[in-house]
Amino acid sequence: MTDTKEADMAGERLELTVDTVANGGWCVARHEGRVVFVRHALPGERVVAEVTEETTKFLRADAVEVLEPSPDRVTPPCPFAGPGRCGGCDWQHASLEAQRRLKADVVAEQFRRLASLDLKVVVEEVPGAENGLGWRTRVRFAVERDGTAGLRRHRSHDIEHVTECLIAHPAVEEVGAERLAWPGAAAVEVVAASGGDRAVIVEPVPRRRADIPDVDASVLLDEGRRGTRALRGRASLTERVGERDFRVTASGFWQVHPGAAATLLGAVLDLGRPEPGEWALDLYCGAGLFAAGLAEAVGPEGAVLGVESEPQAAQDARFNLRDLPQAQVERGRVEEALDRLRIERADLVVADPPRAGLGRAVVERVAGLQASRVVYVSCDPATLARDVAWFAGHGYRLEDLRAFDQYPMTHHVECVALLVRD
Ligand SMILES: C[S@@+](CC[C@H](N)C(=O)[O-])C[C@H]1O[C@@H](n2cnc3c(N)ncnc32)[C@H](O)[C@@H]1O
Repeated sequence: MTDTKEADMAGERLELTVDTVANGGWCVARHEGRVVFVRHALPGERVVAEVTEETTKFLRADAVEVLEPSPDRVTPPCPFAGPGRCGGCDWQHASLEAQRRLKADVVAEQFRRLASLDLKVVVEEVPGAENGLGWRTRVRFAVERDGTAGLRRHRSHDIEHVTECLIAHPAVEEVGAERLAWPGAAAVEVVAASGGDRAVIVEPVPRRRADIPDVDASVLLDEGRRGTRALRGRASLTERVGERDFRVTASGFWQVHPGAAATLLGAVLDLGRPEPGEWALDLYCGAGLFAAGLAEAVGPEGAVLGVESEPQAAQDARFNLRDLPQAQVERGRVEEALDRLRIERADLVVADPPRAGLGRAVVERVAGLQASRVVYVSCDPATLARDVAWFAGHGYRLEDLRAFDQYPMTHHVECVALLVRD
């Protein structure tokens, strides 16, 4: 059930003074005592905002006119960003420096609210997209019934017909998926890997065969209901991090910013300080990025176990770690695999769960391993802060937190937290 009310105020225009930033690309304002979550605004601004949604508890609105602009405001580089337009970016109207301050404020606020911790957060730049554009190495385009492609509008199934996407990596843009016709497709995903391969993944409309235009890609996949069919090339790509190549299933998980994999691996190793001979876990290991770094650090006297639920990703991880016999990969859900394998202790745990976070049961299970350090990689500061509070209840203290601007122009931020056992 949603708490969305009959939208009686939708379309109304309100003059608002914008207060602080909130999680999710919104700023907070008040109207007659009610909270209004405003997009396309910045803290300190006076705006005219159009209500887009009314719930029993709050309003959502888009700033459609700026009466008193913030000094952080810039002209959005993308012509498709703005009220009612493409939903891919949230902060095109803020300078990059301001975007990082806003994200730092959001992370700090989540920790204050959910973990009762007062943190000074700095959001660090990730190398590879200095102007905040051209970084997205995986873009999913939605396709209309008539075969035209575009990007979804914010909180909508409607499609914005863009002619280019400025945050897409140039190798994604070279395909020009948004300018081609895709009859019979429901979605098209373009992936550009650092090893030089490029994949186009076409999801057909149910019970239809997509009519695929001529595209410049080494891998072409048809991802129907019966599974993935390779129409051209192999279904996997090569990603390079330092001296190491990783095989990654084209439709599987890999960090989307070109500098993110190396940056996060560096942060995990810096914070976790794996030592030769140690026993380390890499939970939610994907294609084995962190497991590889951990295995090199613990050496042949140590051991690393990666746990991954996606069968293809687990296979990729095994393949990627084949030269490191101290590393093993278990296919399964973290929630059951640790019990099934009777893992009772570890020296170091690295965990990189999806947005939903670890959750109470996994936090308890991981805390029970009595590792001296837990490195928690997270793309959602709210679930991270919640889980850090639960770890605190099991004797783990937040020792360090780094935050990375891995998704410039959007509200997303990546955090790496170090928890140590008191
Ligand atoms: C955020 S990604 C991290 C992958 C890897 N650490 C990396 O940086 O490339 C999360 C991974 O967890 C996997 N996953 C999701 N739920 C899981 C679960 N319950 N147990 C194990 N793995 C899971 C996903 O398939 C995905 O590969």
